[in-house]
Amino acid sequence: MTPLIEADGLGRSYQQAGEAVVALSPASLRIWPSQRIALVGRSGSGKSTLLHLLAGLDQPSCGKLAWPTLGPVESLLPEKVALVFQAPSLLDSLSVAENVALPLLMAGQGRDSAARVAFALKTFGLLALVDKLPQTLSGGQMQCVAMARAIVGQPKLILADEPTGQLDQLSAQALLDALFRHLADSECALLIATHDPVIAARMDIHWHMEHGLLSCGERTAGSV
Ligand SMILES: Nc1ncnc2c1ncn2[C@@H]1O[C@H](COP(=O)(O)OP(=O)(O)OP(=O)(O)O)[C@@H](O)[C@H]1O
Ligand SMILES: [Mg+2]
Repeated sequence: MTPLIEADGLGRSYQQAGEAVVALSPASLRIWPSQRIALVGRSGSGKSTLLHLLAGLDQPSCGKLAWPTLGPVESLLPEKVALVFQAPSLLDSLSVAENVALPLLMAGQGRDSAARVAFALKTFGLLALVDKLPQTLSGGQMQCVAMARAIVGQPKLILADEPTGQLDQLSAQALLDALFRHLADSECALLIATHDPVIAARMDIHWHMEHGLLSCGERTAGSV
């Protein structure tokens, strides 16, 4: 089998007030189809930095990064790799349905989008919100819509950055239940950055970030 992502010595530094801040120390990793990975670590440890690199949205400062089965970096988002941003990312002027349809439009699949959008919304119990504008939604509802937008194009990899940060515990679990049900028969891999130990505990693999240092490991009791 070929990995979806292979990274060797991947690192990212930022300039802050003339000084280099190492957000990600050189790290090597592989992501394989069907994997369920939790990325945990304290605020500022580098989780979002890593996700943005893996999505091809940001350039590494060092190292090699490739998507062997997915193709060139320009072709990744949003068709093959779906990125759920940590910050609100719905477009204000578009309805919920139009927001969810965006990945299909960007992939040139807009013609038959209505049924697929309805299916993605139904997956997360959002059909009642279809015509609403984002500013009329709660923060948690916006996160659920962002997740519907992530699955609509049937990507090969979902990178979700704190996707349940605005949801209460029960709603967060319901979101993950729905996502796991949806992905059950697919080879789509899932990487979730989360501060929530209950969400992390449901993933098979735990990666830990500390001050930009990534440790990749299998699931171990009490490792969250
Ligand atoms: N665009 C940027 N310019 C300069 N420094 C940045 C930039 N983005 C992130 N950083 C720095 O990189 C480090 C890692 O930030 P990152 O957002 O990846 O952390 P995080 O683990 O996602 O945190 P949180 O859990 O709060 O979301 C921090 O020190 C942050 O200040
Ligand atoms: Mg973050």
